[in-house]
Amino acid sequence: MINDKPIAVFDSGVGGLTVLKSLKDRLPKQNFIYLGDSARLPYGSKTPQTIRKYAVQCLSFLSQFEPQAYIVACNSASTQIAESEWLGKPLLTVIEPVVKVASQVTKTHHIGVIGTRATINSKLFSKLLKVLNPDEHVFEQSCPLFVPLAEEGWVDDPITNLIAYRYISPMMQNPIDTLILGCTHYPLLKSSIQKASGAGVNLIEAGPTLANEIEHLILNQKIDPTQDGSLRIFLSDRTSQSDFWTKSLMGLDLDFEIESADL
Ligand code: DGL
Repeated sequence: MINDKPIAVFDSGVGGLTVLKSLKDRLPKQNFIYLGDSARLPYGSKTPQTIRKYAVQCLSFLSQFEPQAYIVACNSASTQIAESEWLGKPLLTVIEPVVKVASQVTKTHHIGVIGTRATINSKLFSKLLKVLNPDEHVFEQSCPLFVPLAEEGWVDDPITNLIAYRYISPMMQNPIDTLILGCTHYPLLKSSIQKASGAGVNLIEAGPTLANEIEHLILNQKIDPTQDGSLRIFLSDRTSQSDFWTKSLMGLDLDFEIESADL
């Protein structure tokens, strides 16, 4: 069956675009709607209660478009969302799919997790990894300076390399072979993170794992395929910098307008 309702995706800022881009590349004909809550970024330094409140407001903004599914493309928000459905539609977070992949690929059973303070304080990654394998060794590190570097576009910069080294090298004293990028902004800093963790370490990011999940939902007829490939991007605070960065991350060849969202 063909349906024109979109898949709705949100994050606090541009980080969730790393998820949206993977989804769009894999499923170009699917309709998407994206909300970046740039007015209230960062989420990762806020309390669980505030993050939950913001996440619910984002979901209710997106619900006016009657999406077929919701994706919480923000780890900090994902730690506060226990629901697997929203208004009767599937709701996916960026945590479970990544945990599944990390636990499949590790050989040393030593897994690193980097994320915002809110995500690391929640201990949700280590809890879920240990549910899949109680013998997993999990090392978690918050990297609060990464989000502003990513928002600023300092994606492959000597300063970013130094900061990445400072955060990541202590945990690499352990035989970690798999490092979870537990924040959707971090794929933008992948080159610095890979340098700091070492070339042989698998970096696991949310985008491709979520694309797999959506493909499964389409195969299992939980989501209908669409045909227009339409894309609408909303930001709760727009500046020339946020518009420019959003366009560059999605690819300048892609046709979409950036709209303002009043949450
Ligand atoms: N992209 C968000 C995440 O995955 C973090 C950004 C923020 O702190 O707002 O956690």
